[in-house]
Amino acid sequence: CPLPQVMGKMLRERLTPQLWRVLTTASQAAQKRGWHLYLVGGGVRDLLLADPTKIIELQDIDLVVDKAYPIPLKSLQADSIESLETSPQVPETGAGVELARELQQYYPNVRLQVHGRFQTAALLWHKDPELGSLWIDIATARTEFYPYPAANPEVEASSIRQDLYRRDFTINALAIRLTDPRSGTLLDFFGGWRDLEAKVIRVLHANSFIEDPTRIYRAVRFAVRLGFQIESQTESYIRYALESGIYTRSISGNHKTPALQTRLKSELKYILQENYWKPALQLLGDLGALRCIHPTLEFTEELWKQMRLVDRCLKRFQPPEESSEQAVIREPWQLLLEVLLAQLAPEHRAKVAENLQLPDESMTRLQRLDTRNQVIQSRLSQCKSPSQIVQLLQNEDLYTLILIAVQSPRVIRKLIWNYITKLSQIQSPLNGNDLKKMGYKPSPKFKQILDRLLAATLDGEITTRPTAEAFLAEKFPVN
Ligand code: CTP
Repeated sequence: CPLPQVMGKMLRERLTPQLWRVLTTASQAAQKRGWHLYLVGGGVRDLLLADPTKIIELQDIDLVVDKAYPIPLKSLQADSIESLETSPQVPETGAGVELARELQQYYPNVRLQVHGRFQTAALLWHKDPELGSLWIDIATARTEFYPYPAANPEVEASSIRQDLYRRDFTINALAIRLTDPRSGTLLDFFGGWRDLEAKVIRVLHANSFIEDPTRIYRAVRFAVRLGFQIESQTESYIRYALESGIYTRSISGNHKTPALQTRLKSELKYILQENYWKPALQLLGDLGALRCIHPTLEFTEELWKQMRLVDRCLKRFQPPEESSEQAVIREPWQLLLEVLLAQLAPEHRAKVAENLQLPDESMTRLQRLDTRNQVIQSRLSQCKSPSQIVQLLQNEDLYTLILIAVQSPRVIRKLIWNYITKLSQIQSPLNGNDLKKMGYKPSPKFKQILDRLLAATLDGEITTRPTAEAFLAEKFPVN
């Protein structure tokens, strides 16, 4: 197809009228200041890829203001996203921030955040009656230079071409100008349109993965999600970056940057929570990219088997009915990540979990996993009744049980599945209130009686309320 150079009409027709209004307001605000405003990144990519007959619902939009304006680097210190309301001291030297402030006047419900250090503003609408949930990032055109590989990019103002050049892939380095003259022009300096047509993921320069190793995960994510191929030269840059050990040095060496680990975690999360996580993981494995997580982590047959078992288990636990008593897995991606980390030698797990800023409960679980696994595997095979199984497993959390199940031989695994899906749901026909009504006085013995009732129910001695009452009358007569 020829390059669609003028996209203005397409934007107007294919975006929702509400979003089009926001973009028009933003471009007018830029225009009156003599700045250019561009729609960039994934929004342009998705617009060009989408069905041309349909309205496209973009929820995450990146805008760039192009204004030759040197940001005084030394004055920018905040390294985290800070809300303007809570941090009035954040320096407001960025054009993006100024535009965002003006937009805020038209949309009082919007929340404004400023990423102080990089001078980007984010406007967030949450379940807005008009715009729904929408996130707009407004950055000031910039280049990035890296004081050392894999470090946080430092920022200076520059032109849109340089801004696009610092981006990850050609398909994400397209821009549509929203301001006059020539509003609606598609800027394609690096062959993004050609690569969209050829379904290819290609970096803009050889150092891309050295500068930002999380792009390895992004390349895989876009390739699998869009059904694209990683272009062969780009693949060799990935392999080179991995072999150079840059990643390992940057996550564990002197230049360890929390930002890099946070980004790696977000990319992992992004991949593991999508329905394409299996092919994505396979591709990461083929590229040897799991070693970004830890140098010893490999994609083995055993890991693949465990991941498939977890997948089956997740499908089973997925439809969480609000009222259902059954345990649900609220963060499936975290469980998958724990399965990955459980492949590491125990002495490495806690460190990696800490680097990836996993919650404390994950770290504890991974640390005690092998001990619990040994105990459970050996005792489970000796259990003679359902009540003994429940007694053994009832104090373990669901994630631990799944991690152990996928590492266990089939016979043990079946026993654990049976516990999770059936035995753990069984209740005795009589509860504490029933006992009180029957004249039992609350006392430490109460719990003992309830435990015996449950055990007898699990083992089939009690099936109904009358059999439970008969059981009580025989074993624990009321004094
Ligand atoms: N980007 C980059 N390098 C990264 C992360 C992001 O160059 N490590 C750039 C890309 O140009 C990308 C844009 O920042 O298009 C926005 O990033 P993000 O929102 O993470 O990606 P999208 O392309 O919008 O993809 P998605 O649709 O998955 O959100």
